[in-house]
Amino acid sequence: MPMRVLSGIQPSGALHLGNYFGAIRQFLDLQRDYECHFFIASYHALTTQRDPATLRENIRDVAASYLALGLDPERSVLFDQADLPEHHELAWYLSVICSVGLLQRAHSYKDKIARGLEASHGLFAYPVLMAADILMYNADRVPVGQDQKQHVEIARDLAIRFNNEWGEILRVPEPYILPRSAVVPGLDGAKMSKSYGNTIDLFLEPKPMRKRVMGIITDSTPVEDPKDPDSCTVFILYSLFATDEERESMARRYRDGGYGYGEAKKALLAKIEETFGPLREKRQDWLKRTDDLEDVLARGAERARACAGPLLERIRDAVGLGARVR
Ligand code: ADP
Ligand code: TRP
Repeated sequence: MPMRVLSGIQPSGALHLGNYFGAIRQFLDLQRDYECHFFIASYHALTTQRDPATLRENIRDVAASYLALGLDPERSVLFDQADLPEHHELAWYLSVICSVGLLQRAHSYKDKIARGLEASHGLFAYPVLMAADILMYNADRVPVGQDQKQHVEIARDLAIRFNNEWGEILRVPEPYILPRSAVVPGLDGAKMSKSYGNTIDLFLEPKPMRKRVMGIITDSTPVEDPKDPDSCTVFILYSLFATDEERESMARRYRDGGYGYGEAKKALLAKIEETFGPLREKRQDWLKRTDDLEDVLARGAERARACAGPLLERIRDAVGLGARVR
């Protein structure tokens, strides 16, 4: 059996450098060699978003961004989770074997509650639905950032419990996390996240992009003094784009002194523009071609269903539920 890869991103606003380096860049690499499913985690987004028009817009935005960045709908199965209510059925079979304690230990849930989100059942059960997303396609590897590691481990746990209970049906997945981009820092040096308002969005127009990058917080070491590259957000972000030589060269300038943060920011800005500038228009183009975008998602949903349907039949049979009329 070829190795299978699956991941998803919630449509909860503009994609940023954390999403790109923590997840999407790995999607692009992995789709060359493996069977991949990449989806838009629309049901998950409902845990925090209640405005239907914005949600719809955000779903299209993630789809257009995926395509502009180079996810290839011929190679990979690209779909919207909301087209596959099958995920909820599997989530139920997993729910009945998932202990409450396992979910109570989830950091992401605790963090969200601490930030004032309502402690809803959906938010609490989120890792079970995420496990269903992964196990539904027999994924071996799940490319995500560090913040999602625990969720993938919950999916592993549930796959093992399911197999112990009902027979070896589900594949046990592993997180796929690259150490260098596991936690991408934001403007203030904390983890870049939509919820912290510290993001650098991938498709900002040049002017606001410049403003964001120039706004990265640095310490007050004078220009002429030596600086520590490894504790500087600008250097860390630059390193994600740079070749080894470029990284070494900038690190040397930091250590030698006489190199200001302003200059480093300009070098970072140039990398961002070089990487995402040409894709801005592609994304806009996909956003205009609404019918084509919807077609891509519809075809993706069909392909996802072709995989999910037979597995779900086996699962129903294994747990003792037969299909009477289908
Ligand atoms: P956000 O925290 O901005 O809401 P999401 O939860 O939608 O981001 O994340 C989507 C994907 O991007 C996940 O795989 C997540 O781990 C990854 N990701 C998000 N922020 C970062 C970051 N700062 N560093 C590394 N990966 C990240
Ligand atoms: N929980 C992920 C996030 O917030 C999104 C997600 C939902 C996901 N289902 C998934 C990621 C399955 C990987 C695999 O970013």
